[in-house]
Amino acid sequence: MQISVIGLGYLGAVHAASMAKLGHDVVGVDVDADRVDALAAGKAPFFEPGLDELLTEVTGTGRLTVSTDLADVAAAQVHFVCVGTPQRTDGQAADLTAVDAAFSDLVEHLAHGAVVVGKSTVPVGTAQRLADQMAAARPDALLAWNPEFLREGFAVQDTLRPDRLVYGVADGAAGERATAALDGVYAALLADGVPRIVADYPTAELVKVAANSFLATKISFINAMAELCEAAGGDVARLADAIGYDARIGRRFLNAGLGFGGGCLPKDIRAFRARAEELGAGDAVAFLGEVDAINTRRRARMVDLAVEVLGGMVESAEVTVLGAAFKPDSDDVRDSPALDVAARLAELGAVVTVHDPQAIDNARAKQPHLHYERDLEAALAGADALLVLTEWEQYRELDPERAGTLVAQRTVLDGRNALSRSAWTAAGWQYRALGRR
Ligand code: UDX
Repeated sequence: MQISVIGLGYLGAVHAASMAKLGHDVVGVDVDADRVDALAAGKAPFFEPGLDELLTEVTGTGRLTVSTDLADVAAAQVHFVCVGTPQRTDGQAADLTAVDAAFSDLVEHLAHGAVVVGKSTVPVGTAQRLADQMAAARPDALLAWNPEFLREGFAVQDTLRPDRLVYGVADGAAGERATAALDGVYAALLADGVPRIVADYPTAELVKVAANSFLATKISFINAMAELCEAAGGDVARLADAIGYDARIGRRFLNAGLGFGGGCLPKDIRAFRARAEELGAGDAVAFLGEVDAINTRRRARMVDLAVEVLGGMVESAEVTVLGAAFKPDSDDVRDSPALDVAARLAELGAVVTVHDPQAIDNARAKQPHLHYERDLEAALAGADALLVLTEWEQYRELDPERAGTLVAQRTVLDGRNALSRSAWTAAGWQYRALGRR
């Protein structure tokens, strides 16, 4: 099929490449010329495992082309809108500027009977509003909402082998036509047995924010238990293992530590609350305020713990922070708990050196006053305290004996419960972690 993808960020770039991999002819459009140039050369404009290889393959076959000119999408039968919906600068709600602009620009370029598919995460009610607008301008065109659940670090595999496909469509014949178009796009995935749920617009929009709210709640639940463990002298990692064996609970997303960050979970739960309040249903998701508060308290707790192990003498103390990305296998520092803690310690007067295998450039752009070190051993040298704040594999595999020869003080704070406490204490380190004695 002829497909277009509008917006080539984490979501759109991966979606465009993946749809080309499925055999479609894809044109991707973005306003950012540097991003388009990188993609045209078969290079991912951000770090995402497997994406460079996929881009090289699909640009090589000619199935994926990219452009800054929206007019280039005119031949497509199905258009995916993948632009960002960040948090508004003046509040908690989502900023829909890019989505609104993409839709109003796109209607000018639609072929007869084209299907426009929203993938961006939007406040419930947006799809119906856009469908009404489109119907007025282009009654022949159709709108569907097809939320995306990909995780950074696993984006390619999540797109080519998703847990489920969700279509939000209009009632009646229009909905059936839109469903058939999406079935055509995803034919290979459906043939592989990927479950497909067809719903109305509001349900499809809510699926996305409900899923992210559930995940955020699960993380904050275990982090609340970490607070209890700290107060009562328990061990949250053991507790998570024990409750995780209950199949109804499950062990995944029960890793206590610094909490969630990134471009999705924090802003999505805030936007969901804001939208629920507009709808008069704010009480139903008021608990998400608590989920957010538990999450940010973990960062403050980590700073307090660092101050404590430094004996209160933070001024000029050498602190090494391992990890700047919001999670491993990503160079994304949006709302990164690790970078936030590093910046707070620097504000308190510590000399903070940050290491990350991929995220240093993005971190430096956001927090230019911190010291950055690309060499791990150089980053460890002379540290009065070592903080492991993103659980990259290479930090999990650090040899505590070797690391101990580099630092000034063998004090490690495990912000992700990612290290072997027994191995580090056996090597003479003072080991402290969130939610554990
Ligand atoms: C999330 C959703 O998982 C995905 O389905 C959606 O499409 C986009 O938002 P992502 O932002 O890539 O994906 O990250 P995710 O893997 O969900 O992790 C989010 C944050 O939670 C990270 O900061 C991570 O470190 C943290 N986390 C995750 C925990 O603190 N504990 C856990 O047990 C799991």
